[in-house]
Amino acid sequence: MSTTPAPTLSPILHYLQRLHQQLQGVSDGDVARYIPELAKANPAHFGIALATVDGQVYEVGDTRQVFTMQSISKPLVYGMALEDRGAEHIAQRVGVEPSGDAFNSIRLEPGTGRPLNPMVNAGAIAIASCIGGSNRAARLDRVLKALSLYAGRALTIDDAVFESERLTGHRNRAIAHLLRNYDILDAEPDDALDLYFRQCSVLVDCRDLALTAATLANGGTHPRTGQRAIDGDLVDEVLSVMTTCGMYDGSGKWVHRVGLPAKSGVGGGIIAVLPGQLGIAVYSPLLDGNGNSVRGVRVCQAVSSELGLHFLRPPRTTLSTVRACYRLGTVRSKRRWAAAASRTIEQHGHRVEIIELQGELNFASVEPVLRRAIDDLGALEIVVLDFKRVARVDAAAVRMLAGLVSACATQGAAVVLTRVQRGLLGDDFGHAVDPRHLRAFSFQPQLDAGLEWCERQLISRHGAGSEAGSAGDLASHDLCRDMSDEDIAWLEGVTAHEHFEPGSWIVRRGDPADALYFLVRGEVSVIVPLPGGSSRRLVTLSGGMGFGESAVIAGGQRSADVRADSPVECRTLRMDRWGQLERERPGVLIRLLHNLLRVSNGTAARLTAEVAALDS
Ligand code: DON
Repeated sequence: MSTTPAPTLSPILHYLQRLHQQLQGVSDGDVARYIPELAKANPAHFGIALATVDGQVYEVGDTRQVFTMQSISKPLVYGMALEDRGAEHIAQRVGVEPSGDAFNSIRLEPGTGRPLNPMVNAGAIAIASCIGGSNRAARLDRVLKALSLYAGRALTIDDAVFESERLTGHRNRAIAHLLRNYDILDAEPDDALDLYFRQCSVLVDCRDLALTAATLANGGTHPRTGQRAIDGDLVDEVLSVMTTCGMYDGSGKWVHRVGLPAKSGVGGGIIAVLPGQLGIAVYSPLLDGNGNSVRGVRVCQAVSSELGLHFLRPPRTTLSTVRACYRLGTVRSKRRWAAAASRTIEQHGHRVEIIELQGELNFASVEPVLRRAIDDLGALEIVVLDFKRVARVDAAAVRMLAGLVSACATQGAAVVLTRVQRGLLGDDFGHAVDPRHLRAFSFQPQLDAGLEWCERQLISRHGAGSEAGSAGDLASHDLCRDMSDEDIAWLEGVTAHEHFEPGSWIVRRGDPADALYFLVRGEVSVIVPLPGGSSRRLVTLSGGMGFGESAVIAGGQRSADVRADSPVECRTLRMDRWGQLERERPGVLIRLLHNLLRVSNGTAARLTAEVAALDS
């Protein structure tokens, strides 16, 4: 896996450097001494790492110094046990109530003997006994592999720490036997203890832990490798126990002061998670009386308050879900309709509302969108929802959107969903919609295609006459407006009458721009290639319209392709006839230029109106 160093100019890096400097001198607390190997830790070591859900890591200090995970493994292994055994099996053996006790408390739930939560040693030992695998090696392999997925690299065990803990862990041994006595452990206490001591002895550095925390923040997928470390539906459960029990007897104060789900370990590490945004890890082996890293706690307090990260102060996503909202009258598809159809769209475009969405759609962020659409429903015939910039839609939002389709259907209106990426709405948006209302929505791959779909609807509902233009001959062509019959006859003489099959190319990018086309029948699309191999249509034209005018204005090379969408008939004026036109029919030339200017002026006016609408 490649590592991208955080940009050294970043204010975020500078902020963390200042914080590191400020707290470097703090020497309160002591290294863990009850496990002899941990007493060897260097009290001066101090690292801070912050990883975002898109994989940027900011690191300051001793972030590559390895140390053992200790209790930081507990919430992660809890998630694995939930995956392996299911919630019911686990709930029968371990509670989720904060104990208010120290990490090594021996208190169990009266009557059942259940440990109070998976963060105290008793709970973690019970959880270790629930890991799937037919023998010790298989269970260890399961845990090591999953912890490695969280870190984004293969992790190993510090055998010396494991041995030290195994030899001195009498209290944990006592707890395990007590759990066996209550049948919380189904098998030999030594099996669970072996795995527990080993998971505590997994070697990590601060960067690994920041990415582990960011993986939880990212719904269980590692932000850099893209690999899933835990079933996304279980992340909430892991974060919940970290919130209520992660900091043991200091958990209540922690929620007040820091407000981030967190977990500490006596190795000196601490992780904190801001769901959806980032993970923080600190390494500093000087511990307070609760077994939490002194500098680690101070860093988390400072970062949370100074960067405004308390999880009860979430961003106001609702305000930013609607990126733009406009009516079809002002913004149109790239299809140029014949005059009558175009007038219909102008008159009735206000009955189509386009809402461009962005960010994550959940209940809170989709609610104002629904409210807006439903408030206007009496006046609307179609609501277009564009998903280009939507990153995620949760199940509640999918149900709400399906409900909007029904609300629209009962009012005779339709919903068009554009640019919905595969999988964004799950597999079954169609199933979420009431079967009676399935005809009231349409998926369109592009916003432009969605707008054209709406324009067709308006034309078929409100329009009179044909939607496609047809000039038939030059006499009724838009570029020949105000020309006499004689002028037109002259023009017919100097233009070539050409036919193109559907799908054929009339103009290719890079060709010399040497002709002006009078489209008399059929439809053509002007298309430009996009980086990455796809293409975009700039405009679709029909009979009575012109194209290729760059030949007259700029010459040079064609900048776009023009494709016949249907059988096409053109009158083509080659530029080598231009001199003749100037000499013999200056009046026709002036009319023609005037008509070209009128068309481009109309295009410019429409684009200005669109920009204004998109900007408002
Ligand atoms: O059970 C123990 O003593 C250790 N292996 C883990 C304890 C721990 O990290 C407590 N957390 N702050």
